Amino acid sequence: MRYVTLPGTDLEVSVVGFGAWAVGGKWWGDDVRDEDSIAAVRRARELGVTLFDTAPLYGHGHADEVLKQALGDAMGEVTVATKVGVRWDGSGEHAESDLCAAYVREDCEASLRRLGVETLDLLQVHWPCEHDTPLEETLEALCALKREGKIRHFGLCNYAAPELEQALAGGDLGVFQTPYSMIRREFEDELSQVVKPDAKAEARVGVFAYETLARGLLSGKFRTLPRFPQSDLRARDPRYWGTRFFRLARWVDLLRQAAERVDEPTAALAAGWALSRPEVSTVLIGAKRPAQVEQNVRASDVAARPEVVHLLDRIAGAYRG
Ligand SMILES: NC(=O)c1ccc[n+]([C@@H]2O[C@H](COP(=O)([O-])OP(=O)(O)OC[C@H]3O[C@@H](n4cnc5c(N)ncnc54)[C@H](OP(=O)(O)O)[C@@H]3O)[C@@H](O)[C@H]2O)c1
Repeated sequence: MRYVTLPGTDLEVSVVGFGAWAVGGKWWGDDVRDEDSIAAVRRARELGVTLFDTAPLYGHGHADEVLKQALGDAMGEVTVATKVGVRWDGSGEHAESDLCAAYVREDCEASLRRLGVETLDLLQVHWPCEHDTPLEETLEALCALKREGKIRHFGLCNYAAPELEQALAGGDLGVFQTPYSMIRREFEDELSQVVKPDAKAEARVGVFAYETLARGLLSGKFRTLPRFPQSDLRARDPRYWGTRFFRLARWVDLLRQAAERVDEPTAALAAGWALSRPEVSTVLIGAKRPAQVEQNVRASDVAARPEVVHLLDRIAGAYRG
């Protein structure tokens, strides 16, 4: 495993992070079992993963409980990145982003209690505000939590370039989290320019790329149209429907063939490609079981092999949507 220090921070994390959304046990089907999840987290740790990304949203806090149980005392030796600002409606099914200062504080304190720590390593705004709180107020609230020692660093997820620029101007942003994969490349438009306007200079902020496997699709395991239960969000993901899926599956064949050629797992090739981009610090990869983690951590080595990255660039370029 390779490690990276995030620009402008003292945070050193593994270049492959463990994404804890699925282990929360909600929205990812009926096959999530805590014993598998705990084993997956521990295997990640054994294989050198030091970054674990969670959120109050993931299983309504259950992902935090799984991480706490799996990591035990090792919690202090790794970076647990969590999120802030999601408020549930009464049904517990619909969530909205509320980023007023009072809720940012309340939600942060709930995470401190759930994770059983005095300071959160990294608190990231989950998605832009759906009420009318200006970003400035949210950033001030995060700076206040940092001054008080409740968080060490803060970040943003899922913002557009102008807001990212605004946050960077404040000088205190630790991380930016965004979707990015061989088949989802909107990050390369304006966002990557904000992150690294000068090709020769260091990036202005650490970038965590998520969904690098397109929710499992780029692992190459779906050779026929999968049928997901309604409890799995992929049942509502158009990439997993009829014609679109079969078009994608033909392209995934190229990735699978490349994986055979270079003797690495297909998942590691997909995530490794995202990791190879100079703007990306770390890839967050979701996993339910140890065997998946064992494949996914190989992304670190894949990204460090220029000849493999070159091959993957050609395959990514052949994707036609
Ligand atoms: N900030 C945000 O708004 C945001 C949004 C999304 C995600 N994230 C973060 O990013 C992480 C990763 O994203 P993601 O979980 O949405 O998607 P992902 O990493 O693209 O896909 C994860 C899923 O793919 C399958 N999988 C993983 N490794 C595999 C392997 N080696 N072989 C076969 N299947 C494999 C597993 O599901 P099955 O076994 O069921 O197929 C797993 O749950 C999340 O856990 C979360 O921490 C953040």
